[in-house]
Amino acid sequence: MNVLILGSGGREHAFAWKIAKSSSCNQLFIAPGNAGTAQVGTNVNIGVNDFASIKEFILAENIELVLVGPEDPLVNGIYSFFKEDEQLKNISLIGPSKEGAQLEGSKEFAKEFMFRHNIPTAKYQAFTKDNLADGYTFLESLEAPYVLKADGLAAGKGVLILNDLQEAKDELKAMVADAKFGTASSTVVIEEFLDGIELSVFVITDGDSYKILPSAKDYKRIGEGDTGLNTGGMGAISPVPFADRFYIEKVEREIIKPTVEGLKKDNIEYKGFIFIGLINVKGEPKVIEYNVRMGDPETEVVIPRIKSDLLNLLKGIGDGTFSEKDLNITDEAATTVMLVSGGYPEAYEKGKEISGIEQVEESIVFHAGTKNDNGTIKTNGGRVIALTSFGETMEDALEKSFSSAEKISFEGKYYRKDIGFDL
Ligand code: AMP
Ligand code: GLY
Repeated sequence: MNVLILGSGGREHAFAWKIAKSSSCNQLFIAPGNAGTAQVGTNVNIGVNDFASIKEFILAENIELVLVGPEDPLVNGIYSFFKEDEQLKNISLIGPSKEGAQLEGSKEFAKEFMFRHNIPTAKYQAFTKDNLADGYTFLESLEAPYVLKADGLAAGKGVLILNDLQEAKDELKAMVADAKFGTASSTVVIEEFLDGIELSVFVITDGDSYKILPSAKDYKRIGEGDTGLNTGGMGAISPVPFADRFYIEKVEREIIKPTVEGLKKDNIEYKGFIFIGLINVKGEPKVIEYNVRMGDPETEVVIPRIKSDLLNLLKGIGDGTFSEKDLNITDEAATTVMLVSGGYPEAYEKGKEISGIEQVEESIVFHAGTKNDNGTIKTNGGRVIALTSFGETMEDALEKSFSSAEKISFEGKYYRKDIGFDL
């Protein structure tokens, strides 16, 4: 079959790398893609939110399956755009409906969903500028630190964790009354602080049955020891050592099953990935967020650990055979280390020539922000390249990722040398 992947990051390169290996894959296209995806498929210069051009391309190239990488087109309703279109309605789109995407698009929606279906999560209340005073009172009833979350999508910046009550009140006002994060913060969710170690579990569902993908942990801060500004993710490991079979069974019972069943009960169409961000509070998993897509860079460790044919699994979502498909995972550990541009996540320069990629032998080189400029690979984003390695243990795999990281050069290159330090 002909496949189209939407997106341009390391996540999409990892998906493309895997799908290109499938015997069912005829032609593979990535829109807009990067210099890495062009090595395993054909890049198409169409933006992920340009639904009209996506439609035209799908019809012209006989695409049968579309895999949506980032959340934006999902929150913008690409699923219903397909289902309501006579020519597109039979094409398999991997991703939730617009309503399902609200699990990520609205923190308040996600919280209401979790409470409705008894899914463990932090206590919360939601506020707007109309009940700001109640927000202050709620903050006074909590203990520090205070967790404030912009309801809508805020490019990963919408969560504030503050130690001082007055500062929390000031920030709440800035968010709801002064549009600190634009309309994304006209509603703010205030929630109880959960103290514990974070991990993520990934699920793929056809809306009826589900399969659990490998767990992973990412490293969001720019600085070693988890310090400094938040980034999209500086590295990841899979599996998460403390998330053994018994722990995952608990997560399945208390969180995954009620989530998939909750979607069904609420009549929310969902055929795609669910990324569940958890905090492990003294052995008890609690949900801190849902994402309606795979994580980046988590995909760069989760997908390579899948031994089964991923496209075959995705095909099953479209043709009703998903529940019969096998999902085999390697026991090996996978790690990824992200090389980023100097200055990221603040201002950084693009267009730096990248060298040494061909010298990497022990890792898979997943491109994130790169472009091919007349045969020269150049940096084209904050996160540039993810180096994924396997090992019997996480330590073995990390050694390979770090050694590969030294082989690649570009001006301003930076990476965290302590991925996995806390495990
Ligand atoms: P989110 O965008 O909801 O994943 O939040 C971003 C980050 O804030 C998470 O990865 C956690 O590190 C942290 N965080 C979110 N909610 C809480 C909470 N209730 N307690 C403690 N930390 C949190
Ligand atoms: N790495 C976190 C995310 O993809 O949201």
